[in-house]
Amino acid sequence: MCGIFGYVGEGASFSSLIGGLSKLEYRGYDSCGVAAIDNQKLFLKKRAGKIQKLKEGLGEKMNKKTSLCILHTRWATHGRPNKINAHPHLDSQRKVALVHNGIIENFLPLKNQLIKEGYKFLTETDTEVIVCLIEKFYKKSLEDAVLKAIAKLKGSFALGVISLDQPDRVIAVRKDSPLIIGLSKEGNFLASDVPALLSFTKKAIYLKDQELAILEKERVKVFNFQKKAVKVKVEEIKVKAEEAEKKGYEHFMLKEIFEQPAVLRKILFLYCKGKNVHFSSFKLRDEYLKKVKKIFITACGTAYHAGYVAKYFLEKYCGVVVEIDTSSEFRYRKIKLGKEDLLLAISQSGETADTLAAVREAKKCGVKVLSICNVVGSSLVKESDAIISTLAGPEIGVASTKAYIAQVFCLYLFSLHLAKLKNTIKDRKIQEILSGLKKTPHYLQEILNDSRKIKRTANKFSRFGSFLFLGRGINYPSALEGALKLKEISYIPAEGYPAGEMKHGPIALIDEYRAVVCIAPRDQLYEKMVANMQEVKARKGKILTILNNDDREASTLSRQILYMPKVTNQDLSPFLVAVNLQLFAYFVAKNRGCEIDQPRNLAKSVTVE
Ligand code: G6P
Repeated sequence: MCGIFGYVGEGASFSSLIGGLSKLEYRGYDSCGVAAIDNQKLFLKKRAGKIQKLKEGLGEKMNKKTSLCILHTRWATHGRPNKINAHPHLDSQRKVALVHNGIIENFLPLKNQLIKEGYKFLTETDTEVIVCLIEKFYKKSLEDAVLKAIAKLKGSFALGVISLDQPDRVIAVRKDSPLIIGLSKEGNFLASDVPALLSFTKKAIYLKDQELAILEKERVKVFNFQKKAVKVKVEEIKVKAEEAEKKGYEHFMLKEIFEQPAVLRKILFLYCKGKNVHFSSFKLRDEYLKKVKKIFITACGTAYHAGYVAKYFLEKYCGVVVEIDTSSEFRYRKIKLGKEDLLLAISQSGETADTLAAVREAKKCGVKVLSICNVVGSSLVKESDAIISTLAGPEIGVASTKAYIAQVFCLYLFSLHLAKLKNTIKDRKIQEILSGLKKTPHYLQEILNDSRKIKRTANKFSRFGSFLFLGRGINYPSALEGALKLKEISYIPAEGYPAGEMKHGPIALIDEYRAVVCIAPRDQLYEKMVANMQEVKARKGKILTILNNDDREASTLSRQILYMPKVTNQDLSPFLVAVNLQLFAYFVAKNRGCEIDQPRNLAKSVTVE
């Protein structure tokens, strides 16, 4: 969490640099700040709240230029989200300024020791110990002081550091938190993520873990933590600047929901040539995949729900056993993974700390890792044996939508690829499923075209104080995801449950004030779902059902209905359910006046444990 940004060069306006920082606001938005050095003076401005507040604080200065600058947008871990705890943090001489993304696990003993040595602390943050340590070790060279300071730290950190004594450079450090260097003729940049760089440059160096870079106006030098120079690869950023813009939509989330048919078409175009599924640069050997008996899936949040949907069709089509766990649990389970196992790691950002840690743990057993990831330059991709890129383009809305659909879709294609290799389903069946998948973008578009109806339904339900989402089989994870979307952006307590478990607890919650969303596609579990709906209705629960266009029976039990097109293969229903529930959550949140793209307390990329 937290976004860091920095610049050294001929001169760039504060307004353009703040513009870069605001592209990182999805990583945290509770406070922010900037430190710049010009004409031998250190300038500092910090604000509690979003970047807009910083812009207001800068006032006239927004149009002024700076040649050396670090910026930060924060998601608080240690210390309240107020002005004093906001980054950048300064040393006691007010000569060194530092921004940090990550967590310093041993900050307390370090802080106690530094206090004994006479250092004074102003903030409640873990970060302040780093700037104190730099002050302690600073003789002539800022980079040497930084290296000495980080040798004392345990935890994760991406840093940007500047000093009045060496106003020609920014020191950038990466350990277990992402950091990218942007290169341009007018100067060089550091950023937590690509979108911040897009309006400045398309050339980047993705710093590797445990590397330090010295950024100067005309050059960038990269070292390992032993101060040995390392070779770097300059890469072309492929993302287009306009992909990270709202394009006329009121919110990124809405734009991203509407992009979903196009994302699926792109995936089909690239991975589905003719009658075959083909993943470009897929590095897992067929011989190995044929032997895979057990698949473990690890992921967090929405990506975990995508994996949960995939569990159903991987087991059904590929004859494998699939175990799924959230990364924060998986990383501490002492599972012995074998040579015939496969670990699927799913992540939009590829930087989620728990997922990376889960992968690192699992790799100790020698298991192969296939990641399903949206960010090609991410740490997860770099650490995996193979990757399926989800091709969704930058996702900015904190609540994940298009990345989820893309993850499930790619996993679907992977299951067909695996089934073909393992010969677990007939070719004819594979073609049948593929032809259903090819129609999915069209079905999604149908639902999107009817978004006004979903809006009306959402408005009617937005007064409820709590929701229960029920689903069965492959749509049990859809219920989990529907509930997650709603609580993330509308703050309404919502719980997803397997409908069959209702009698073991949640039924006690049902009365006339409870909204119950029932996912009831015409599949083999339909009758059972209808029976559950009867039970809800008998207890006066207010039912909103998602059902197929031509369904009469379930509709009579429902107060409101959201429709999905009738499909021959009901295993495709999670896509149709997801779009309905994404729009439903969006319109409920909008009706309640919530901050949709930046919900309170959340961040898009959870880079700390
Ligand atoms: C955060 C985001 C979610 C996301 C989850 C996992 O909680 O708010 O939208 O699903 O992290 O992120 P990842 O990047 O690993 O998919």
